[in-house]
Parts: sequence; structure tokens; C-alpha cells
Amino acid sequence: MTSFVSNNTIWQLNDEYSVQIKYHTNNHELIIELFHNGIKTNSISLNNDQCSTFTRRFCDTTNELNELLTDLLMQTSTDDCSIRVIDDGKSLEIIFPIYFGSQNRKKIWSFFIHFPIFSLNLEENQNEEEMSLDPLDWTDTRILGHKIMDDMIDYLRDIRQRPTWRPMPTEIKSELMQSELPLKGESPWKVYEQIQKTILPYPIGNIHPRFWGYVRGNGSSIGALAEFITATMNTMSSGGHQSSIYVERQILSWLKIIMGFPNDDTCSGALVSGTSVATIISMAVAKKKFDGQLMKVYYSSETHTCLIRAAQLLGIEKENIIMIPTNDQRQIDLKILSESIDSNSCAFIVGSAGTVGTGSIDDLQGLANLCSLNPNKLWFHVDGAIGAVARCSTRLRSLFIGLERADSIAFDLHKWLFIPYECGCVLIRHGELHRATFAQPHAFYLALMDGGITPREGEFFFSDYTLELSRNMKSLKVWMTLKTYGIDKIGQIMEQNVDQAKYFVNLIEKYHHDELQVLANVSLNIVCFRYYFNHNNNKTNLELLNKLNKHLLVLIQERGIAVVSPYVIDNEIFAMRMCIINHRTKQSDLHWFIEKLLEIARQLRQLPEFSTIEN
Ligand SMILES: Cc1ncc(COP(=O)(O)O)c(C=O)c1O
Repeated sequence: MTSFVSNNTIWQLNDEYSVQIKYHTNNHELIIELFHNGIKTNSISLNNDQCSTFTRRFCDTTNELNELLTDLLMQTSTDDCSIRVIDDGKSLEIIFPIYFGSQNRKKIWSFFIHFPIFSLNLEENQNEEEMSLDPLDWTDTRILGHKIMDDMIDYLRDIRQRPTWRPMPTEIKSELMQSELPLKGESPWKVYEQIQKTILPYPIGNIHPRFWGYVRGNGSSIGALAEFITATMNTMSSGGHQSSIYVERQILSWLKIIMGFPNDDTCSGALVSGTSVATIISMAVAKKKFDGQLMKVYYSSETHTCLIRAAQLLGIEKENIIMIPTNDQRQIDLKILSESIDSNSCAFIVGSAGTVGTGSIDDLQGLANLCSLNPNKLWFHVDGAIGAVARCSTRLRSLFIGLERADSIAFDLHKWLFIPYECGCVLIRHGELHRATFAQPHAFYLALMDGGITPREGEFFFSDYTLELSRNMKSLKVWMTLKTYGIDKIGQIMEQNVDQAKYFVNLIEKYHHDELQVLANVSLNIVCFRYYFNHNNNKTNLELLNKLNKHLLVLIQERGIAVVSPYVIDNEIFAMRMCIINHRTKQSDLHWFIEKLLEIARQLRQLPEFSTIEN
């Protein structure tokens, strides 16, 4: 049964306009109908969210707006209090006073209710043969957009109040995995409701202040806003006469300066999805340089596996992908490396500017010196996924001396530069070679012209430097982030993260050394540690402690306390690994984490299965 609360009153307004307000008690829908000279010219149906948006949060519900409008309509219009139709019947302007304070002080509040532009022609429009995905009613899209924007800003603002991670209930998973094809569309409000229920509460957690697992960046509020602009422009960023190409070239120029590369066209680069792709590109360019000759790849036991994948993809035989052991600083052992290099072949030599396991930084200067002995046969590549951008910090820059001499650098902006996923970068010292590796003669449909959007003059195509032809505009989120926050501040946050990692180590070593153990030195922002309460390192103890720590790590995650990730030190000791690339982390988070960690560990220790651990 439909039940309307409406007194059938048609309220006379200005310029021969009148309104009728209907409040639907069943579903709390508020309908406002507009008449001109007695003929219905428009109407709008509002839900709670729309009321809140239209009234600038004065009314949170349709009921409140219904009451407010009815009250105001019953009063005589004055300068302070009026409801008027404006913009040729497109909007209602509502003005009224609010009284407050002991002296009955007054503030004037106003807002607008915008009517849909085509609402009364809806059927007519739907019958038209030409279709589009644009809404018939932009007002509704605007309101939904405002709501999503407000919700997302709250989502970021309130992140600390939520658990770092929460498991997905089975019914949510099944709801998301329903395999029916969505043949018929539905209201975007409904779709968004589903997103709120099934998607937004269950992220992996990397924007949370206590997410320290793997190497996952936070992004930022500005980066998120930039993504909305990017998706709205939806420009295809492979080349042509358009702003995005210039923005990306500008970003590359800034990154060359940060990395200490020559800031000119002799060096080339591109924004890509991440270091994995940047590594493939770097290796492909090196292979091009050594065309026809055997190229062997040398990397350390601590190097990220994306390196091996790149080598395999590029057809490098297993026996030519050579792992070099590390020294006691977990850096590639330069002596063993130089003795291992096969003088009859060319070499792609990898240095890490922050290894994924412990954050150790190879002797990049030593590697550069080694490669400079025979630049025609040795290519110096740096995996800078984590650390390269730390050159933004004047204090940390010195850790990466030698990186500026690399032939290629693959690094991420979505990690420590706080750019929303995905965004990595490849920089190549040899621009011509880079282009020669990827550029193809332009297909007929991509022919350059004497002007227009693909002019011959000043031709520049990023698709000549990457794997993709279709590319989104990654540059805007970088541009907006760097310009808004500035490199200095980002560098200071990196320093803060490094200090927090050291602080965490200090906390363990000073106050908790009888229960926690640091397992690897920190050179950057990564700490490997474990719960530990015995000094007898026999095999049984080790296995039990490994088991206990694995259990502990999972419980910490499942209880939403924090996220740290697993690592194995020296092939035998299970470690919890904390990597702080997080602009939201505070020292108090580290204190709280230790408190909760110990609480759970002590409970686990009481379990019968761990009672045999010998002290
Ligand atoms: C040292 C290192 N290299 C390479 C990668 C791969 O980078 P991406 O995930 O951006 O492809 C990672 C990822 O964590 C990494 O830590």
C-alpha cells in the first residue's frame, strides 16, 4: 500500500510557479512537484542522501526536509525567509533564519534544490533511437557524485577507526561472485549501495596507519582526487598533441633530476604499471644494445623475483641467470660478482636500491665502478622499487650514491612516493636505444599529419618506449601529488619512516629483548623480527618457534591489529617483517602494536603444542 503524507496543498510561489510536496512514509521518499500556471513542469524525488547533499547537511533525512519545507511554506515570505523558483524553473532557492545563543542571534541559511532537466520528457527520451551512457538527469549523477566524494573523504579520514584488515564473510564473497551477467542495468545508487556493503569494507588494508606488510604504499587524498579527474578526462596517453604527454614529460624530467640522471633528451623514460614492467623494459633495451651477443644476468640472492621473470620472458636461458651470494650486510658480494662475470659474454648486472626482504642497499657505487670498466659489455641496472625515490630526502640520498650512474633504473612511485596504484617508472640513460627497442613504423591508422591531433612536428609517442599502445594518464596523479605536497615534505616523511623503523628496533632492544628479537639490521625502513623467549637454538626449538610466529602473524592480521608480512631469514628462521612506507603511521601505533603482539604471543605460548619449547 502506498501511503503519502500530503495535504494536497499547492503552495503558491513567485512568477506564477507553485509547488506540492509529497512525503512517502513507506520508503521515506520525498517528491517535490513544480507547476507553472497550474501545469506540472517538473518534479524531483529525493532520498536521504540527496536531502543531505542539497541542504548542505542541514536535513539528514527526507522527513526532516519535508518538515522544514512545510514549515517554511506556511510562513509568509520575507527577506530572511523565502522559497523561490529561480533559473526558469530549474531550481528552488530556500532561505531561512536560524536563531541561536542567549541573545537570540540570527544566521541566514540557504540552499538550492535543483530539478532534473529532462524529468518530464523521460519517456520521450527513452524512446529515442540514439542511446548514450550519459544520464538523462545530470542532477542525479551530480548528487551521487557528491555523495561518493563525501563518503570517500570520510573513508580516508576515519581509516584509523577501522581494523587494518577484516576477513570477508562467506556470504559477501558469494554475493560478489554471483555469475549472472548484468544484462539489464540498474540504478547507480543501488550499485553504489552494493559497493558500500560488499567492497569498501574489505580492502587488503594498505592505506591503514598500521599496515606494514610487504611494500605497499598508502596513496593520498590528493592522489585519489587526481584519479577522479584522470578517469573523467579518460584521455588515451600514448601520444599526440595533448596535455597529458607534456605532463608526463615534465614528471620524467623531475624524476631524472631526483635520480641524478642528465635532465635532457639523451635519457628517456616512461611511467608504467610498476617495477616489474620497468624491469622487462630495461632488460629488453640492454638486449637490444648487445644484439646478437650472449647476455647473462647477474643478481643477488636478495634481489626481487621480478628480475628472474623478466629474464625468462626475454628468453634468457636458466644457466645464464646467475645468482651471486651476499655479504654480511646482505649486499651483493662484489668480489664474487667480478670473479663470476664471463668475459666472453655481455652482462646485465643488477643492483638493489633497497631489497624486498630487509631493505639492504647494494654498493651501487661499487657496481657502477665495476660496470664502467667495460661499458660496451656491461649494463648496470638498478632495481629501485622501494628505495630509489628516497633520493627525495636530502638525508637519505647519500645511501644511494652510484644509482645516478646506472644504465637503467626501474622504480615505483606507488610505494614510497605515495602515488595511488599503479605507477612505476623506467629511466634509461640511452634514449635512442630505448626508442629503437620499442618503436614500430606507424601503422596506417596512426599516420602522422601536418597538424591536428597527431602532428608530425614535435612528434612524441610514449608507446615508442613501452609495451603498451593504449595507456592511461598516470602522470596527473603524480603531478598533483608532487605539486601539492612538495618533494621536501615527502622526503621528510620518508625520513620519519626510517626513524620509526629504528625506533621500533630500539623499543624491542631496550624494553622487550627477553621476548622479541630483531633478526636483520635495518638500513632503511624494514625490520625483521620474531617472538622469542629461549636461548636454546636447537632444531626442535626453531621449528616450534617458527610455528608459533606464523600463528602469531596470522592472528595479528585476523584481529585487525596490524599487518606485517612473512619472511624467512637465512633459509630457516621465520620472521615477521615490518616495512614502514606509511605517511599515516605514528610512534603510538608501534607501541600499541607491541602491546597487542605480546598479549597474543603470551597466550599462544600457553598452548600445549608450544609448551615443549626449551628455555
Ligand atoms: C625490491 C622490489 N623490486 C621489484 C618489485 C616489483 O615491483 P611492482 O610490484 O611494482 O611490479 C618489488 C615489489 O614489492 C620490490 O619490493
